[in-house]
Amino acid sequence: MKQNADLANVAREMLRQAYAPYSGFRVGAALETESGEVYGACNVENASYGLTICAERAAATQAVSAGHRRFRRLVVATEGDRAVPPCGACCQFVAEFGDDTRVYSVAKKETQSWLLKDLIPHAFTKRLLET
Ligand code: THU
Repeated sequence: MKQNADLANVAREMLRQAYAPYSGFRVGAALETESGEVYGACNVENASYGLTICAERAAATQAVSAGHRRFRRLVVATEGDRAVPPCGACCQFVAEFGDDTRVYSVAKKETQSWLLKDLIPHAFTKRLLET
């Protein structure tokens, strides 16, 4: 299993690929599957702003497209001093596949960690579609 530092390095490397000409806010993400593979991605903005894709969701779509459905760790890398949590949309998106994923956020002067279920305690899950 990779060290947290290795995962963080993948996320930082992805951050360098960020396409963020509008916000200037560059984000990288690394998502580790239950079986230990790592998928990285960056945020990809668009002139039609609402089409922007966050780094975390971009990483998740890659992992899911490769057949993975369970995720152990998600690392988010940003360039500012303080660590930021993934946005609500990304939390919801990843919670589709289980909410016990451990989330790390690494910034210049700070690292934070949460369980996904603590970031989004009331995720809308497939179970709710049956009520
Ligand atoms: N962004 C992410 O990539 N992940 C998040 O969790 C929050 C926001 C991106 C979207 C946009 O390109 C930029 O950061 C500013 O919101």
